[in-house]
Amino acid sequence: MKMMKILIVAMAMVFSSTLVLAVDGGNSRKGKYLYKKSCKPCHVDGAEGGELTPLSKTQKQWDRFFNKNKHKKSPDALGKFTEKDLKDINQFLFDHAVDSDQPETCG
Ligand code: HEC
Repeated sequence: MKMMKILIVAMAMVFSSTLVLAVDGGNSRKGKYLYKKSCKPCHVDGAEGGELTPLSKTQKQWDRFFNKNKHKKSPDALGKFTEKDLKDINQFLFDHAVDSDQPETCG
């Protein structure tokens, strides 16, 4: 019986921590969609922003880009997004950065 109680507490802890992560971090899948729709048009080979994929930076560099740089070269490019959108895009790029577990160019 005591074992059962410990198990339930442990499960509740795991569940609540994933919940916190999901709210705190961005939604990578949504970020991918937003990236393809809104960043990629300017960021393919030959376009004004030049080719850019998640692989262009490390995780740390992506975080720095979203927290500090904020698209300094043309700030308007980030202006139309909500904080949540930017978090999602940041998460997508972070999850597939060159030093991530799943490095990925984006289709
Ligand atoms: C309206 C066109 C446009 C859009 C939309 C756009 N960018 Fe850019 N981006 C640029 C241009 C222009 C540069 C500067 C390229 C250069 O320095 O030659 C740039 C530069 C960058 C850089 C390089 C910064 C550096 O010096 O390391 C990153 C990273 C970047 N953009 C990310 C994004 C992301 C993420 C999005 C979508 C949220 C986005 N861009 C949307 C035009 C755009």
